[in-house]
Amino acid sequence: MRIDLSQEELPKRWFNIAPYLPEPLPPPLDPKTKQPIPPEKLLAIFPEPIIEQEVSDKEWIDIPEEVLEVYSLWRPTPLVRALNLERALNTPAKIFYKYEGVSPPGSHKPNTAVAQAYYNRIAGVKRLTTETGAGQWGSSLAFATQFFGLECEVFMVRTSFKQKPYRRILMELWGAKVLASPSSETNAGRRFLEEDKEHPGSLGIAISEAIERALESKDTKYALGSVLNHVLLHQTVIGLEAELQMQKLGLYPDYVVGCVGGGSNFAGLAFPFLKHKLTGDKPHTEFWAVEPEACPTLTKGEYRYDYGDTVGLTPFIKMYTLGADFVPPPIHAGGLRYHGNAPLLCAFYHHEYLKAQAYSQRDVFSAGVLFAKTEGIVPAPESTHAIKKVVDLALECAKNRVEKVILFNLSGHGYFDLSAYDSYMRGVLE
Ligand SMILES: Cc1ncc(COP(=O)(O)O)c(C=O)c1O
Repeated sequence: MRIDLSQEELPKRWFNIAPYLPEPLPPPLDPKTKQPIPPEKLLAIFPEPIIEQEVSDKEWIDIPEEVLEVYSLWRPTPLVRALNLERALNTPAKIFYKYEGVSPPGSHKPNTAVAQAYYNRIAGVKRLTTETGAGQWGSSLAFATQFFGLECEVFMVRTSFKQKPYRRILMELWGAKVLASPSSETNAGRRFLEEDKEHPGSLGIAISEAIERALESKDTKYALGSVLNHVLLHQTVIGLEAELQMQKLGLYPDYVVGCVGGGSNFAGLAFPFLKHKLTGDKPHTEFWAVEPEACPTLTKGEYRYDYGDTVGLTPFIKMYTLGADFVPPPIHAGGLRYHGNAPLLCAFYHHEYLKAQAYSQRDVFSAGVLFAKTEGIVPAPESTHAIKKVVDLALECAKNRVEKVILFNLSGHGYFDLSAYDSYMRGVLE
């Protein structure tokens, strides 16, 4: 069962949760002076309209026409009831997923990539640099920059560069230059290559490389695929659509679930619903952020100021962190290998509005295979984390004979990740 919205129902505004924070977000600090960084200082890496959104306390922000036009290539995305999965689990729970894999790059990432490319274009920027883990973000930015005539350079974490050649090819097809990170093209990259010629890389290192590039040149800026407030803002188009789709069914979720790397797909789905918990309208909904045991930022990290990258080029931001020098093992969910997490999400987690759980790689792939067998779609390795939690919740509903409504974000498809599924099925996944 699938619930579609018409093109006219595509949200015209993004939702900013900042006005609903229980206390103001701890500001980004200059790591040297430990003083709040004035927004203007960020102009070296981000264009002005993005910085305005980063610090905005306006609840609603209009989505520009040009962005809506590109969104309409795949949005609104479907909300689907996973009836076959429900039957397989013999659960009275109603399971719904918002399917973001219908975008041309195959995930939720273009929701922000298109917006960022647009704002950089109107600010006169010529080139965007970025990092990518699994290749989903890099391919989304490559896709988006094409529409606005920008060049795109992507530092791809070496593990993924090797594991996912098709993602690299897709980025190149959309006109991007792709480098395995650490690369020999930046000071940051060379530093890590000296330690180990085959360094597996990490998102933190790739971010350092991309930022270094942006700092070198006036007409080059940096684009981040997660973590920051403006990225989470752009992703709320997911939750706003889902809210309308659930309304059409006369339902409201008891559980909202998403996988968490930097926090953007989960926040994008959750924040419009979380607002109703914060206002007291819907106090009982539980929000579950799901992460890998190999990179357990929320469940094992500390809530403190840390760098967003490995080398220390970013401001100090307050978040749950495993430490900026943490290099996670090379799991297949490349997009979840980040030492930190979105400050907005961390603040709500810290105040116990959200819950978190970590799973092993084998457990999430087993849930991913069950989903593929019952619902047909092969989920991205990242998204299988959310599915594993959904399966557990649905089984709990079966045990307790309660008919709860579960909503999760199927943040992407896994058709470029079949070798990971192959490893799982052959029993060679560590
Ligand atoms: C399909 C998919 N889901 C989830 C993520 C995790 O990122 P975030 O937590 O920002 O949604 C990624 C990151 O690359 C991804 O590609």
